[in-house]
Amino acid sequence: MQIFKVGGAVRDRLLGKPVTDIDWVVVGATTEEMLAKGYRPVGADFPVFLHPKSGEEYALARTERKSGRGYGGFTFHASPEVTLEEDLIRRDLTINAMAEDDQQNLTDPYQGQRDLEARILRHVSPAFAEDPLRVLRVARFAARYAGLGFTVAPETLELMRQLSESGELEVLTAERSWKEISRALMEDQPQVFIQVLRDCGALKVLMPEVDALFGVPQPEAHHPEIDTGLHTLSVLEQSALHKQPLTVRWACLLHDLGKGLTPEEQWPRHIAHEHTGLKLIKAVNERFKAPKDCQELALLVGKYHTHSHRALELKASTLLELLQSFDVYRRPQRFEEFIAACEMDARGRKGLEQRSYPQAEYLRGAAKAAREVAVQPLLEKGFKGPELGEALKRERLKALKAYKENS
Ligand code: CTP
Repeated sequence: MQIFKVGGAVRDRLLGKPVTDIDWVVVGATTEEMLAKGYRPVGADFPVFLHPKSGEEYALARTERKSGRGYGGFTFHASPEVTLEEDLIRRDLTINAMAEDDQQNLTDPYQGQRDLEARILRHVSPAFAEDPLRVLRVARFAARYAGLGFTVAPETLELMRQLSESGELEVLTAERSWKEISRALMEDQPQVFIQVLRDCGALKVLMPEVDALFGVPQPEAHHPEIDTGLHTLSVLEQSALHKQPLTVRWACLLHDLGKGLTPEEQWPRHIAHEHTGLKLIKAVNERFKAPKDCQELALLVGKYHTHSHRALELKASTLLELLQSFDVYRRPQRFEEFIAACEMDARGRKGLEQRSYPQAEYLRGAAKAAREVAVQPLLEKGFKGPELGEALKRERLKALKAYKENS
């Protein structure tokens, strides 16, 4: 049997990037031989094994044939006769279809190295279409390597378009899609992920609510970029530049969905878009079964981002309502993430990227003032139950009024 390093590990070594996990392909072996050597099978009918010591994945060279719709619709053919070239041709991109032996001799039958040098994401063969998740994968790689100058080959974009139009993307499970989406949002240029999905028509299928923002104008005075879709891309770009966590990036992507619902005759204004957008944010959250913290933050940012932008003008009572809605006393971190997302929103405007956002400090100060109201004196006065809650609110309101006057 022969063992080769394949996929991302080869690609990233050639790119001079750190290699995190290594995938191996085994040519000329049977399942029985693997088991005899102590490898542990990953699944009952999947020819992948874990190394007894390193835990790395070793897959028998295989060919794949699609036998139905979706990821379940596969039959695998793994046998000692399957060659390395046959295994590599079923892979997604040429830059992911190179193999290396233990002497670092490269097997590169589909010109992965050429594409790596030319900075091109190109599919290996028509077998690309066998897994629709690859549409998201290519967009994710585009987001990751955009900084190196990579772009998607026109013929690959065309194949992605055909896949998007064929209805295949609808078959993807929420879990597989979310894994790609969440990884893509954490890449260096997450806005490229959304842009590529849009370019191939996949955004319209996966997140029509985001796709609908393109072509929707906003008032030029506040939004020199005008287009709501472009604004969303910029907000996402800012979130990556400022190294925000996934929760914030997800909220950035979804914060303005309501603007896609504004009747054209009201353009470029978007009255109450914070409220109209909530049901759309909920729908996208649920479609991909986003984790609870992502779902929550996206809804809160959708509902309250204008409050943040207007923070300095808010009445003390409105500030209090805002802080109460966030349960800022028990969940200070979530309020921090809210502020961060709103700041990214403000910076994601053409020409205003460097403008300071004093609202952030102001809101932090307000939260601090409200949090500093002590419960003990109220308990000592004999307040309990709902009355205690009311008394706390009154004290917090006083504290916020004082804070407003002094700032
Ligand atoms: N692969 C594929 N199609 C998929 C998933 C994986 O062709 N839908 C192949 C590619 O050759 C890929 C390899 O399997 O390089 C390993 O997949 P994976 O570990 O998911 O990705 P990596 O390429 O290692 O990328 P990453 O750095 O994102 O982990």
